[in-house]
Amino acid sequence: MKQKIVIGIVVLAAVVMVGVYASAQDHAYVGGDKCKMCHKVQYASWETTTHAKATEKAKASTERTFEAACLKCHATADDEAMPGVQCEACHGPGNDYRKMSIMKDQAAAVANGLIIPTQATCDRCHTGADHAKKVSLADNKTNKAAIHEFKPAAPPA
Ligand code: HEC
Ligand code: HEC
Ligand code: HEC
Ligand code: HEC
Repeated sequence: MKQKIVIGIVVLAAVVMVGVYASAQDHAYVGGDKCKMCHKVQYASWETTTHAKATEKAKASTERTFEAACLKCHATADDEAMPGVQCEACHGPGNDYRKMSIMKDQAAAVANGLIIPTQATCDRCHTGADHAKKVSLADNKTNKAAIHEFKPAAPPA
């Protein structure tokens, strides 16, 4: 009886994991370089942020020992080959929304994986645990030193 329950739990866990894996694979990451040609202003300012340098910073740490687990928050897609907290770490993997025809249409872009960041986007890394201090999106929404330059608001008509 006990054994059956254990097997049941293992099977359930396997099903849940397959589900999570499948959804993470729905859209592929392309890297911030692919966003640069159309979003030069955001890219150039993002490059100067600590987000852009988060992988080097973790590797150079003298207080903590660098390991693969750091990359969950100190890289994009958990992948050292995509160093820094890049565009897609906040805006979602871009392979399916980066085409002009889709990008021009916000609803289509969102349907193809674009994320307009919410507090939950930041909370994934800024968990409040250990050294990963909480941050407020509301307080940082126009903080170009932390995120990137934003489009100026439309002039009054
Ligand atoms: C072929 C050009 C092109 C590429 C490549 C491109 N974009 Fe866009 N993007 C646009 C256009 C056009 C818009 C709509 C006008 C605007 O807000 O600038 C847009 C809008 C956006 C918006 C604002 C959405 C909204 O409605 O608030 C975000 C965020 C964004 N793009 C992120 C990205 C990211 C991240 C990448 C790389 C994975 C990327 N884009 C690649 C052209 C592009
Ligand atoms: C849960 C996400 C998360 C993980 C995992 C994580 N970090 Fe961080 N790390 C952060 C966040 C968020 C900040 C920025 C905190 C702030 O300054 O508000 C940060 C900041 C840092 C800094 C700069 C500030 C400081 O405290 O010195 C270093 C260095 C660093 N992390 C190294 C590491 C190393 C090395 C690892 C792996 C052993 C690691 N981190 C794992 C989220 C994480
Ligand atoms: C740390 C998270 C974060 C990263 C990294 C990031 N963005 Fe953003 N981005 C935001 C937030 C937050 C907004 C504002 C969303 C809103 O208006 O609600 C935004 C808005 C935008 C917009 C909308 C137009 C504007 O300028 O206001 C574009 C385009 C954009 N980002 C592109 C990019 C590109 C390209 C990169 C990589 C070079 C990037 N973002 C990296 C968080 C991020
Ligand atoms: C993929 C993980 C990740 C995501 C998502 C993320 N951050 Fe960060 N953030 C970090 C790390 C790591 C650092 C520390 C970088 C360093 O010091 O090298 C950091 C640093 C910061 C800092 C400190 C900047 C400075 O120079 O003092 C602010 C502010 C910040 N993030 C705001 C945000 C906001 C707002 C969002 C959501 C829109 C967000 N972050 C999303 C990982 C993340």
